[in-house]
Amino acid sequence: MVNVKIKKSSFWIGLCCCIWMATGQTHASDASNAEFAQFSAQGAGNFSAAQGKTNWNTVVVSKEGEKRACVTCHGTDPKKSGQHATTQKTIEPMASSVNPERFTDVKKMEKWFKRNCEWRWFRECTAQEKGDILKYLMNANQETK
Ligand code: HEC
Repeated sequence: MVNVKIKKSSFWIGLCCCIWMATGQTHASDASNAEFAQFSAQGAGNFSAAQGKTNWNTVVVSKEGEKRACVTCHGTDPKKSGQHATTQKTIEPMASSVNPERFTDVKKMEKWFKRNCEWRWFRECTAQEKGDILKYLMNANQETK
């Protein structure tokens, strides 16, 4: 009898967790808030969308003379699709107003920030740089609302 009760309650707790996770993962601001909190914990603060826009557009020239920027692949308008510089594959827009899947997963953001910063700037971005860029891309959403 007791056993049955436990099973029933753990079923409901489990179900609630599933619903919570499912809704949580599709909510852009939850994941981006977690990112901002992480950047602040790493010593960054006062995130600036204007600075983020500058970072996003800054061109770095490689040793071979190749010009690289975030916009090389993502394009200058976050609300439009980009195209990968080497594979030519289409990259979905960065603004979550047009692409609700953006910034819903902290792990994904961290993975791509690391990879893209190394490709673009030949080093990892700082917490401040990432925070500014994220703020800029999140603001791009608001412009369309
Ligand atoms: C060589 C091409 C390329 C360049 C340059 C590039 N990216 Fe990306 N980026 C990608 C690809 C490919 C993806 C993953 C596919 C997708 O999410 O549509 C991605 C995804 C991302 C994501 C994940 C977004 C999410 O959905 O959570 C972030 C953040 C990001 N890039 C930031 C940057 C920043 C910052 C720069 C400049 C420092 C940059 N990217 C430059 C190709 C690039």
